[in-house]
Amino acid sequence: MSGLEKFYTHARADQPLVCLTASSAPMAQSLAPHVDLLLVGDSLGMVLYGLPSTQEVTLEMMKAHGAAVVRGRDAAGISIPVIVDMPYGTYEASDAQALETARALIEASGADGVKLEGGLRMASRIRAITDAGIAVMGHIGLLPQSAPDEGGYKIKGKTPEGVTRLLEDGRAVQEAGAFSVVIEGTIEEAAAEITQALSIPTIGIGASAACGGQVLVTEDMLGLLHGQKPKFAKEYKTLRNDISKAAQAYAHDVRIGAFPSDAYLYKGSKK
Ligand code: KIV
Repeated sequence: MSGLEKFYTHARADQPLVCLTASSAPMAQSLAPHVDLLLVGDSLGMVLYGLPSTQEVTLEMMKAHGAAVVRGRDAAGISIPVIVDMPYGTYEASDAQALETARALIEASGADGVKLEGGLRMASRIRAITDAGIAVMGHIGLLPQSAPDEGGYKIKGKTPEGVTRLLEDGRAVQEAGAFSVVIEGTIEEAAAEITQALSIPTIGIGASAACGGQVLVTEDMLGLLHGQKPKFAKEYKTLRNDISKAAQAYAHDVRIGAFPSDAYLYKGSKK
């Protein structure tokens, strides 16, 4: 069974779908046994590269990280889909541009599909890609690629008009052939209405348990990041503290001459 078929089977079983982002091969290998889908999200621009927004992420970055995650998933021997984000500025101009970018991403990474941001506005881009046989995940609600132009990260669906717009977006994405849709940054009632209205699985991030599944940015979930974090980002670990402690212990050992000790030396005769 292909990764996407498995994803549909779990969705039909009415079990919440579990998704996480990944950007490297070892991370993908560790996560793959526990999730239904790995997303190579363009949030990697911020959480990995320290960029101010996802608008600076390039197609080359997404190709390279997509390929790394596919290698990690394959090394784990787990059949789950890997979906790669289409970066800002690579699909909005025309259907032809969107299809060209989607093809380039799939060819370079070996991923199972792409994700792009936008509802009604992006429906014909999604249709162009799905008509070519490439799986598309939609993304509605708070759209990080648009946030810098909207003056920040704003929660959606807080008014009846907002919910109506989100419903239109969700329906447009589904009708354009998307296999699933991410709902980001909405109030619970909005996410519940959209999830009930659609037959494709909705995957929430900051959108409540009313969605058909959840996704988190793995660096948030592992507590790797410093500074402010979004309200929805539950830290299941605080690895930044463990990393700091490990670096401190290593630095101490090197400075007192305790590392490398005998066990870490290559041995051989001088002759
Ligand atoms: O880029 C990303 O990580 C995403 C998730 C927030 C869904 O799009």
